[in-house]
Amino acid sequence: MATVSKEIPRLPVASDRLSRSPTRHLSHLPGPQGHWFLGNSRDFLPNPGRYIRETRQRYGNCFTVGVLRNRRQVVLAGPAANRLVLLDPEGNFSSRWGWEVVHAYFPGMVLLRDFADHRQHRRMMTPLFKPAALRRYLARMDPIVRDAMAAWPEAVDAYAVLKRLTLDIALRVVAGFEPGPANEAVYRDLATVLDNVLARPGVRRWRGLRARDRLRRALRVELAYRRSSAGEDLFTHLAVQTDESGRRLSDGDVLDHMLGILFAAHDTTASALTTMCVRLAEDPAWQARLRDECRGLREDCGETLEYAFLDRLPLTDAFFRETLRQYSPLQMVPRRSVREFRFEGQRIPANAPILLFPQVTHFDPEFFPDPERFDPLRFAEAPPPEPFAFIPFGRGSHMCLGMHFAAMEVKAVLYRLLLNRELRLAEPGGWTLDYVPLVRPARRIRLHLRRV
Ligand code: HEM
Repeated sequence: MATVSKEIPRLPVASDRLSRSPTRHLSHLPGPQGHWFLGNSRDFLPNPGRYIRETRQRYGNCFTVGVLRNRRQVVLAGPAANRLVLLDPEGNFSSRWGWEVVHAYFPGMVLLRDFADHRQHRRMMTPLFKPAALRRYLARMDPIVRDAMAAWPEAVDAYAVLKRLTLDIALRVVAGFEPGPANEAVYRDLATVLDNVLARPGVRRWRGLRARDRLRRALRVELAYRRSSAGEDLFTHLAVQTDESGRRLSDGDVLDHMLGILFAAHDTTASALTTMCVRLAEDPAWQARLRDECRGLREDCGETLEYAFLDRLPLTDAFFRETLRQYSPLQMVPRRSVREFRFEGQRIPANAPILLFPQVTHFDPEFFPDPERFDPLRFAEAPPPEPFAFIPFGRGSHMCLGMHFAAMEVKAVLYRLLLNRELRLAEPGGWTLDYVPLVRPARRIRLHLRRV
């Protein structure tokens, strides 16, 4: 009698037949030529969103740019492009090949799966991000935030402390590790992976991959125990999760998804928290407004921050969204075309590298009037009229699984921070950002955190 597999198999998908090297047959598409070797990198890299917005005015919604050794990429711009690529009703766009740069690190993570194969893994992971699970994560997260913050001095490097805090949260709430000498190596390895994950081949990449191997081994040892435990962390939930036929994820898939979630969760949230804190530090009026909101919540709900209370922080939520609009942590959403398609009269061949830029629509005055103005109230009053114009978390089949987790984490951190500290920039106005690979301070941003 044939036995039914207890693990979900990998399903073959159309993008399996794409080759590692994307097509170079893109010369029929318009676009700025740039340097023979660097392409448009010198204009593009300092602020990709701004460069693409300017280039769009000249070339329209479909053009190519050359980045990093002049490899041409097809840029699709505007809400119709976002809708076409992210909803992808015809299965034309591969995320697996779009995100090829991280494939060596997390080959089986959900973002690196396409179509039917992606759907079955995503279905398994969705319950890990539902309110019932988030409620339990917040119960673990709030004391971590409180204790970390109590130890912060009155002058800090904003990005460094927020990165450390989000790393603690990722390891303790997501992976279920406790701090201590035995787990210091795990902390170090995760930090090394995250610092090197987008590095090009060379020493940094080699170092990152070795740290990934050690981290994977540490997670594998834990997995044997998590398979039969009742822990409240996300790793344990993933280990015991089954589909409607009672099948579960293989050991390899659980480990890949875990590493992938740690990667997706950490730097993005640290980036958003940093830009929020800097914005708050230079805007005492908004800072006072959000502090009042947090105090109101504490008066009504007591000392423990519970998940059900978070929707009583609407202004904090609006501030978060406005920050994401102007400083989307991920400035590019990459894909590879599986087959030839047309967009606004242009023919784009199969196996073409495609890029979407959230900042294009985030700064379009048609959707966000006076877009250079930082104005959280635009989100407090009404949601954006066109859903595909606001895409800091993507949209469609690969839309961020951790979107509500991220919003919860940001609120948990700001709640404790604003109740206890007053934020001020050590050097007002003196901050600049790098945008690639993620938005983060170009130089150290020092914050004064006076106890209140
Ligand atoms: C402010 C914080 C965050 C931002 C801006 C963000 C942004 C994004 C974006 C734009 C995507 C879609 C990428 C694409 O379509 O190619 C994505 C996917 C994803 N994110 Fe996030 N993310 C954040 C936080 C998190 C957190 C906290 C977690 C987990 C705890 C997480 C887990 C994931 C996963 C698993 C995916 C892949 C989903 C799929 O392929 O089906 N993210 N994120």
